[in-house]
Amino acid sequence: MRSHYCGELNESNIDETVTLCGWVHRRRDHGGVIFLDMRDRDGITQVVFDPDTVESFALAEQVRNEFVIQIQGLVRSRPEGTQNLDMATGKIEVLGKELSILNAAETPPFQLDEHMEVGEDVRLRNRFIDLRRPEMLNKLRLRSKVTSSIRRYLDENGFLDIETPILTRATPEGARDYLVPSRTHQGKFFALPQSPQLFKQLLMVSGMDRYYQIAKCFRDEDLRADRQPEFTQIDIETSFLDEDTIMQSAETMICSVFKEHLDVDLDEFPRMTYADAVLKYGTDRPDLRNPMSLVDIADLMQQVEFKVFNAPANDPESRVVVMKVPGGAEISRKQIDDYTSYIANYGAKGLAWVKVNDLAAGVEGLQSPILKFMPEEVIQGVLSLTEAATGDILFFGADKTSVVNEAMGALRDVVGKNMNLLNGEWAPLWVVDFPMFESDKDGNYTSVHHPFTAPSCSPEELEQEPLKALSRAYDMVLNGTELGGGSIRIDNADMQQSVFRVLGINEAEAEEKFGFLLDALKYGCPPHGGIAFGLDRLIMMMTGSQSIREVIAFPKTQSASCLLTDAPGEVSNKQLRELNIRLRELPKTEQSS
Ligand code: AMO
Ligand code: AMP
Repeated sequence: MRSHYCGELNESNIDETVTLCGWVHRRRDHGGVIFLDMRDRDGITQVVFDPDTVESFALAEQVRNEFVIQIQGLVRSRPEGTQNLDMATGKIEVLGKELSILNAAETPPFQLDEHMEVGEDVRLRNRFIDLRRPEMLNKLRLRSKVTSSIRRYLDENGFLDIETPILTRATPEGARDYLVPSRTHQGKFFALPQSPQLFKQLLMVSGMDRYYQIAKCFRDEDLRADRQPEFTQIDIETSFLDEDTIMQSAETMICSVFKEHLDVDLDEFPRMTYADAVLKYGTDRPDLRNPMSLVDIADLMQQVEFKVFNAPANDPESRVVVMKVPGGAEISRKQIDDYTSYIANYGAKGLAWVKVNDLAAGVEGLQSPILKFMPEEVIQGVLSLTEAATGDILFFGADKTSVVNEAMGALRDVVGKNMNLLNGEWAPLWVVDFPMFESDKDGNYTSVHHPFTAPSCSPEELEQEPLKALSRAYDMVLNGTELGGGSIRIDNADMQQSVFRVLGINEAEAEEKFGFLLDALKYGCPPHGGIAFGLDRLIMMMTGSQSIREVIAFPKTQSASCLLTDAPGEVSNKQLRELNIRLRELPKTEQSS
């Protein structure tokens, strides 16, 4: 039906007769001449109809925006003074000879160049139109190209692309499962995979040696800008390689993607232990473009009278920290109040601050609501520890360690962005030496990664002091986002049972849920490990998108629904009967709005 894409025409096509198919991007009537900007996946070309071609001209008068048309015409140079150098095809135009209307279109719910003013809901409900915008098209094109490079890299390195089931048992990665009722086994449910974790390990036991899959994963968890209930992993597993080799290979893969598609050379990724990351930045996914860090000052605060500081300073489960913001003395009171409310979301009870208006003037040069509570030598100690200078502000956090880490970590991110303090464009790193477990408020242990991660200690040490045990896990972090994570896995049943015991999974439950894994570990399991990257997150970062929804063709909303298809939807009574499911009538108080 066509000889060229609209966007590919240029001066080398002058005098050629071409056939184009696409959408009417814009129609302009210029006193007897009609201009159609015609659009397809590749770009836009201007087509001109003059009244000499009577029939086509009459049709051109009828077309409206977003009509689908086919034209035939002659490529010619645009007359002097009408060239548009901002447009790839701006030096030429097509003199239309024939036009067919392939399909008419109603007036679209929004004009393609007005998307900024329409709400995301409207865009998502009419995604087929939203995706016509070059910006969206380019994001999906990059996604396709990156996926293809990654496949090429892995294929060339001996990885086999193997599919694993979608209807399966729970694969614990820390989120809720999406469940699918079974008709043939009434009362039983499949779970959609949170990741292919267990299957990829079984493939190693089978001797596949190197596996990958661009895999759909499903997690019913609270959604954020970088999380979707259904997302895609670049999932990788290998046998007989240690963590250094796996990390190196994953790093090379990501670097080559950045080079090929963004022409960016990423430096060698530094490694940081989990303990250091949390101590310095309050988080295990620090944005290293941000120069600010948290400095512990519990030593200095143990003796002060100010209760807000001295109580946590004397409590081993608490922290008192200071964060210096270069140039921050200009931050207004209102802005400080806003930051205080922001970190209250993370449990912080306040945000103490000291502005350094004139360092040389000593205490006189400082401004702060807490000066009166602290001896001068303590203040001097803080100033010298932070190397504060005139024009800086110091922010203080004092509370339980987890509250300080989360609140001050979040504050560091937002202040860094608001004050334009970020250095450089890309700051990747590896975070290593994660703890195996953390304990919740009831004292139950949960895995920091997943229960199949190998510890770097013996089973006895693990069970004796679970919170001290470190894992052989690694996360790749880029600009404050966790891009991927993996580990060396447990490859023997005894160690796996030890981990289950720590997690409070007794032998019967372990057998019921993971018997197939425990069996596999007994029948010749190679040492193995791997990693999984979030493909959506990778593309989100590479395209500088604010939300993961911008790089997924048909994403879900924050409340995990699809506005386009109106999923999830109700099902018929017949379907429910077949599944032997009866819906409980919700009491008024439980009904969702
Ligand atoms: P993990 O749970 O860390 O590890 O997931 C790996 C990567 O997947 C991405 N990701 C998500 N992306 C979008 N929406 C989500 N809801 C979401 N959840 C995770 C992140 C994350 O780094 N089986 C292990 C990997 C392994 O050990 O090999 C796993 O799934 O980028
Ligand atoms: P208060 O005496 O409670 O009015 O607090 C004095 C200053 O300390 C105020 O600026 C509070 O915002 C701040 N503050 C209170 N609690 C904390 C805390 N846990 N960490 C840091 N600063 C706090």
